[in-house]
Amino acid sequence: MPSEKNGVIIYKRLAAYAFKHWRYLLMVIVGLVISGVTIPLFAVYMQPLLDGTFMDKDPEVISWAPLALMVIFLLRGISGFMSSYSMEWIGRSVVKEIRSELFERLLHLPVAYYDKTNSGTLVTRLIYHVEQVSMAATKGLKILVQDSVIIIGSLGVMFYYSWQLSLIVLVAAPLIAGLVAFISRRFRKLSNKIQEQVSEVTQIAHESIAATREIRIFDGIDYESKRFEAVNTLNHKSYMKRILTESISAPIMQFIMAVALASVVYSATHGTLIENFTPGRFMAFMTAMIALLDPVKRLTNVNALLQGGIAAGESIFSLLDETPEKDCGTHLLQDIQGNFEFKNVTFRYNKDADEVLKGISFSVKAGEKIALVGQSGSGKTTLVNLLPRFYDNWDGEITLDGIALEDIKLSNLREQFAYVGQDVTLFNDTVKNNIAYGKLQKIKESQIKSAAEAAFALDFIEQLSDGFDTEVGENGTLLSGGQKQRLAIARAILSDAPILILDEATSALDTKSERHIQKALETLLKNRTTFMIAHRLSTIEKADKILMMENGRIIESGTHSELLSQKGAYYKLYELQFVND
Ligand SMILES: Nc1ncnc2c1ncn2[C@@H]1O[C@H](COP(=O)(O)OP(=O)(O)OP(=O)(O)O)[C@@H](O)[C@H]1O
Ligand SMILES: [Mg+2]
Repeated sequence: MPSEKNGVIIYKRLAAYAFKHWRYLLMVIVGLVISGVTIPLFAVYMQPLLDGTFMDKDPEVISWAPLALMVIFLLRGISGFMSSYSMEWIGRSVVKEIRSELFERLLHLPVAYYDKTNSGTLVTRLIYHVEQVSMAATKGLKILVQDSVIIIGSLGVMFYYSWQLSLIVLVAAPLIAGLVAFISRRFRKLSNKIQEQVSEVTQIAHESIAATREIRIFDGIDYESKRFEAVNTLNHKSYMKRILTESISAPIMQFIMAVALASVVYSATHGTLIENFTPGRFMAFMTAMIALLDPVKRLTNVNALLQGGIAAGESIFSLLDETPEKDCGTHLLQDIQGNFEFKNVTFRYNKDADEVLKGISFSVKAGEKIALVGQSGSGKTTLVNLLPRFYDNWDGEITLDGIALEDIKLSNLREQFAYVGQDVTLFNDTVKNNIAYGKLQKIKESQIKSAAEAAFALDFIEQLSDGFDTEVGENGTLLSGGQKQRLAIARAILSDAPILILDEATSALDTKSERHIQKALETLLKNRTTFMIAHRLSTIEKADKILMMENGRIIESGTHSELLSQKGAYYKLYELQFVND
C-alpha cells in the first residue's frame, strides 16, 4: 500500500502525464469552471424569476427570464462538452502513453524477471491498472474542479442571501469531514485488495486456458474450479465491502444534509429571520443549498477514487521502475569469427540458489560445432543461455573473439545468434511471418521458401490450406510438435546469423526427418560456430567437440571417437543408447 508520502510522489508522476497535454488540460479546467458556475448562477436566477414574475409581475423580468434560462443552459452545455471531450482526450492519451511505456519496458526487462513474475500480473497492470489510473484521474479532476466551484459558488450565494442560515448549514461540515476521512481510509485498503485479487483471477484464468488438456487428463477440473471459485469469491467480497462503504456513506451524508435543511426551514420560518426573505430569496437560498448536496457527496468519494488510482499507479510505476537489462557494453562486433572462450565460469540463477554451472572452462574455435550432452538438469540449456546474455552475473569470463561478452553492445551481440530453443515459440501469425520473424520481414518469398525447404518444412507447408499464408494459431497450436520445430529451424536458417544455438532442435522429429535435417544443417553449419544440445547421440557424432556435462560441470570433452576410447561416461551413454536403438 502506498504510504502518504509515496502517494504524493505517485500523484505527481501521474499528473506529469496529464500536464503534457496542457492545452487540453486548460480547456478542461475552463470548461469545468464555467459549467460549475452555471449551478450557483441558476440559484441566483431563482430570486428575480420568482419575485419578478410571479410576485411583482415586472414586465421587464417576464421578458428576459425565459431567455436567461436558455443562456444559462447553453453555457452549461457548451462548457460541459468542452470539458468532457478534452478530458477524455487526455485520459485516452495517457492510457496509450502509459501502455506504450509499460510494453516498451516489458521488452527490455531481463529474462530473469519473467522467470519470477507471473504473466497474469503483468497483463493486469497493462490492461486493468492503466484504465483504473485514467478513470480515477479524469473523474477525480472533474469532481475536484467542478464540484469545488459549485460548492464555493453555492456557499457564496447562500451567504449572500442569509449568513445566519448559512452558518446553521455549516454546522454539518465537521461531521461530513470526519466521515470523509474514515471512508477514504477504508476505500484505500479495499481498492488495494481488489487490485491484487483481480491479478489472481487473471492469473488462474490464464493458466487454465493454457493448460486445458492437462486439466482434463489429470482430473484437474474440480481443483481448478475450486481455486478459481476461491479467488472469485474473495474478489466479490472485497468489491461488496467497497460498495457497502460507498452506498452506506451516501445516505448518511444525505440525512445529515436533510437535518441541516430541516433546521434551515425551521429557522427561516421562525423568529425574525423570516422578515429578510421573499419567496424568491428563500428559493434561491434553498436551490443553492440543494445544489451543494451532490458535489459534497462526490467530494466524499473523490478521495477513494483517487486512492484507487494511486494504488493502480503504484503498481504501474513499480513495473516501469524495474531495472532493464544491463547493457554497459559499447563494443560493436564487425565480421565476427565466432571464437568462444569460457574461463572458469560459475553461475547461479539467484544469489541464494545453488550453483548451476561450476567452473566451466573450454574454448571454441570459429566455425566449430560444439555438442553438449548430459543428464537432464545438468546445465546444458543454462550454459547456452549465457551466450546471448539471457542471464547475467556469472563469475569467471566468457569471451567472443577475445572480447568479454559484457563489453559487447547487447543488441549487437544478439544479432550474431540464431536460436532454436528447447520449447519452440511461434507467434500467432502466418507460417511465412513466423519463418521471417523480426527484422527479416523484408526478405524475398523465394528465400523463405528455400529456408523452409532446408528445414524439411516445405512439404507440409504446401499441404496446409493456405500454404505459407496459413495462420498457425496461438503458439502454433494448429501444427504438430515436429512441424513447429521445423518452422523454428527454418527461422534460424533464414536468419543467416554467424552463431547458432540449437537446443534439442530436432527432438520432436522422427529419425528419418531428423537425418534429412541433419544433412541440410551440415551445409548451413559450415563456417558457423554452432552449439547444439541433443539427447540422441546420432545427431552429434560429427561434432568437432563434445562436452559431457554432469551436475553443472564438464566431466569429459573431445570428439566422438576420443570420448568413446576413453570409455568414460560418454561411452556408457553411447552403449546405453546403442542397446536401446
Ligand atoms: N530460469 C531458471 N531459474 C532458476 N533455476 C533454473 C532456471 N532454469 C533452470 N534452472 C535450474 O538449473 C538447472 C539446470 O537446468 P538446465 O535447463 O540448464 O538443464 P538442461 O541440462 O538443459 O536439462 P534438460 O536436458 O532437461 O533440458 C536445473 O537444476 C534447473 O532447476
Ligand atoms: Mg535443456
